[in-house]
Amino acid sequence: MSTFNEQVTAFIESYYKPLDEKLDELRKENEEKGIPIILKETESFLSLILSLIRPGQILEIGTAYGYSALFFARSLPESKITTIERSQKMIQVASANFENFQGGERIDFRTGDATEILDQMIQENAIKTSPCFYDFVFIDAGKSHYKEFFDKAEKLCNPGAIIVCDNILMHGWIVDSSFEGFKRHRTNIKYMKKFIEYIKERADLTVSLLSSGDGLAIIRLNNERKD
Ligand SMILES: C[S@@+](CC[C@H](N)C(=O)[O-])C[C@H]1O[C@@H](n2cnc3c(N)ncnc32)[C@H](O)[C@@H]1O
Repeated sequence: MSTFNEQVTAFIESYYKPLDEKLDELRKENEEKGIPIILKETESFLSLILSLIRPGQILEIGTAYGYSALFFARSLPESKITTIERSQKMIQVASANFENFQGGERIDFRTGDATEILDQMIQENAIKTSPCFYDFVFIDAGKSHYKEFFDKAEKLCNPGAIIVCDNILMHGWIVDSSFEGFKRHRTNIKYMKKFIEYIKERADLTVSLLSSGDGLAIIRLNNERKD
């Protein structure tokens, strides 16, 4: 990225305010250990959008150490969060964090591959007397599977729900193949481009692509639920 972008990011980040001290410590621990975590800019944006929507039920795909799930839980004390993670190493640490942090008791931690877990959740809903539908979804897992995650998550959403997808610009590779690292991530980039085309073509969605952080897609589901 250019110096201009680095300066802009530093400027924006200088206005970042952590939600509370414990989350700030957890962010620092994640960053020191190189654990992937929502960028500060992304967190600020999510904070605003959550305060506007005030979703009762939140679904997250991609937990890592549980930072963003705890951020959702602690931002909205009335909310319930379901988060999905498949890596054993992440599951261990996230489970401990959910035990130790206030708000963790409202997190339903589903472990396994998200495509399978989402299918299970769709099936569970079909037989439940009071099925669980989400008002807000955050997609932040395998970058080549966003379309699958989106299509399945959509079936678990209330009409009017908002789905936010992180990292859609993929360090700028989505627009410029000369950026370092492009070749290594070619497949993910191809699938991310296809996903962006797909949401753009869907007339029943309102889509906004933002360059905040590593790029965000903000999607509103305008139609009735798809079965
Ligand atoms: C960017 S990290 C999530 C960061 C987290 N949202 C945060 O901000 O604290 C992405 C996580 O998704 C997990 N992941 C990737 N593909 C997955 C899949 N198919 N099913 C479940 N988890 C997956 C990875 O193991 C990784 O921990």
